Amino acid sequence: MRKTIIAGNWKMNMTPSQASVLASEIVAKNSDPKCEVVICVPFVDIFEAKKAIEGSKIHLGAQNVHFAEKGAYTGEISASMLLECGVEYVIIGHSERRQYFAETDETVNKRLTAALAAGLKVILCVGETEAQRDAGETFSLIEKQIKAAYAGVSAEKALDIVIAYEPVWAIGTGRTATSEQAEEVCAFIRGEVAKLYDANIASETTIQYGGSMNAKNAAELLAMENIDGGLIGGASLKSDDFTVIINAAE
Ligand code: 13P
Repeated sequence: MRKTIIAGNWKMNMTPSQASVLASEIVAKNSDPKCEVVICVPFVDIFEAKKAIEGSKIHLGAQNVHFAEKGAYTGEISASMLLECGVEYVIIGHSERRQYFAETDETVNKRLTAALAAGLKVILCVGETEAQRDAGETFSLIEKQIKAAYAGVSAEKALDIVIAYEPVWAIGTGRTATSEQAEEVCAFIRGEVAKLYDANIASETTIQYGGSMNAKNAAELLAMENIDGGLIGGASLKSDDFTVIINAAE
């Protein structure tokens, strides 16, 4: 049975002291979550977040990782650095990185391969822009993003990848995809994983929806057959809202 995973992507929010408070609140409100809960925090918040979740059932994630093991890459962070800090998950290929930081399908694959090799689990983000949806390119684009990201990944390591379907037009806009729209693409994604590997790996793969998921719409989205969780931005910064979403995933 695949896992249901609710992950918060804090993006560039929360100083270390704020992170400590928010993570502690999430711990206090979720002593026995019925699904896996991950908080993906800024690099500088990792230590405080780690301290706050110690002994709890909350898991720790980062928001990016470099593909080299080490070396002259000023400003970058490697997979082994994250692991040693207690990080378990890393978000790779978020649309904000693709849009603003020149992330490509190729660099997504390099980061993903390095993260998996080091022993991290990956939350791989895919999704179309509004223009791509309007042009009828959603499925061909997602197919291309998935194929490129998984290139060279063994069947065993493929099980360490969670896919987050995040339509770019729904991120931070308050314009959530309808549950039917989200389900349609998540089902398609599962089919793509089955084509790359087999039906078993596809059915074991957790596929999240992300994009203006909130305390009000989470239950309906999470009830869909192929939506196994959420990657939540804005609403993950409020411990009450995040907790409602976690409880909706039970
Ligand atoms: P919002 O929930 O703020 O729309 O962000 C979604 C997202 O990008 C999560 O990675």
